Amino acid sequence: MPWSELDRVLIVSPHPLFREGIVRLLGDQVEVVGAVADWEEARDAIRKHHPQAIIVDHENVELKEDDLTPLLWPEIESIRVIYVTLAGNEMIIHDRQRVVEATEADLLQALKEAHRKREGKEETHVAPRAKPASQAPGIPEGGSIMRRLAVPLLLTVVLSTPVAIWLGRSDFTLALAGQQGQPVDWLLRLEFSIAGVIFVLCMVFLLYSVFAFRRAPGDMEDGPPIEGSIPLEIAWTIVPAIIVFSMATYTIGVLRDITKPSNPEPELVVNVTGFQWAWRFEYPDLGITSSELVLPVNQPVLFRLYATDVIHSFWVPEFRIKMDAIPGMENELRVTPTKVGEFKVRCAELCGTGHAYMLAPVKVVEQSAFQEWVKSRAEAAAPPAEAEAGAAAERGKALAQQYGCLSCHSIDGSALVGPTWKGLFGSTRTFQDGSTAVADEAYLRTSILDPGAQVVEGFPDIMPKTFKDQLTEDQIQDIIEFIKTLR
Ligand code: CUA
Repeated sequence: MPWSELDRVLIVSPHPLFREGIVRLLGDQVEVVGAVADWEEARDAIRKHHPQAIIVDHENVELKEDDLTPLLWPEIESIRVIYVTLAGNEMIIHDRQRVVEATEADLLQALKEAHRKREGKEETHVAPRAKPASQAPGIPEGGSIMRRLAVPLLLTVVLSTPVAIWLGRSDFTLALAGQQGQPVDWLLRLEFSIAGVIFVLCMVFLLYSVFAFRRAPGDMEDGPPIEGSIPLEIAWTIVPAIIVFSMATYTIGVLRDITKPSNPEPELVVNVTGFQWAWRFEYPDLGITSSELVLPVNQPVLFRLYATDVIHSFWVPEFRIKMDAIPGMENELRVTPTKVGEFKVRCAELCGTGHAYMLAPVKVVEQSAFQEWVKSRAEAAAPPAEAEAGAAAERGKALAQQYGCLSCHSIDGSALVGPTWKGLFGSTRTFQDGSTAVADEAYLRTSILDPGAQVVEGFPDIMPKTFKDQLTEDQIQDIIEFIKTLR
């Protein structure tokens, strides 16, 4: 582009020699719209001639940069200001923090930059350095931008392919033990693969830019500001939106698949109740209530989830399913266990101090073993022929299992969250305040009804205070009879 149509330049210096020197230096290569002595005159000239660049005599103290407060003088923001010092045979350009020795060509280069800024060409151009301008790395002009993009794009393809394949085949989760987990795992691997490609894309462009566009030694100048690329902004809005909506659609399909009833096989119904801080499992068709979840392998199961106090969340990681149990609501969840083994129900919703201990065993067994378990539970539930005390203890044991007491209190002396029941009755208890008492019937009753009243030393005060609403007087007596048998 010929210089003549390039720039409208204003020169500011109180010294006529400076003004004339610069005018002569620039010759007819730019249009000098004015040469003024101070900022007052400069202001008028700027409003009148709209210069694109101002060359300021830097040696002159009256013309320091502080005067150019854009707040006082908003026009100055869109004008390139170039400070020039003429010292002997040397010319020095001061461009913001940069101070370099310069030649006439450099001054023209600085003016050219100012022109480009005004023309809004920063996107395809990084400011050339005063020295050495030819070696300055930058985004190339026009068509060669695709050539520049080729390297990082190729790197992205080459690197992201193995990453996507690796992520798509990796097992990040516990061994799968439920039919509904298969589509969940596929979804997870797909998401990891897509995220892997995006991660590689970002890292490649970041690191490529860090190295390819790094600052030249001695260059203290800011890069040119980039703003307002409509195609770019449309692209980075549309592309993520497409990814997110596609993933959401696929996810909704997976969710529908894993929650629909598996016909025609009849489902085993299990009512799950979460409470602070244990789980109770009822098999309404079999008349069984249990504190452990026993399931026959390959049998579709329908869980109905309830909560009595706060929100809990039923989660068996190996089944890849999780659902909140919410007071006053019934939620449904379906699982077909595919693997014999022992797992754990975990509570996945912070539900109080005992949340971390809210675990229950899950036993997936063969169909025959499940029938045996059902039979043994049915016999245990039948009233035994023994004496009344024995029958009460048996009922108490069933209650202790049903209400989750045995999740926290062992009956074999092993250490759980709460004190063991073995050898409890008749022993001397030491409490947190240092006082002691003998564990008689009254003590056990108080411990069940008002657990915070006498907390045993070394144990947290986390036992639910809700049993007084859940248990009848007879049931409490049965549990006490059961504890008394655990000598
Ligand atoms: Cu129940 Cu956390």
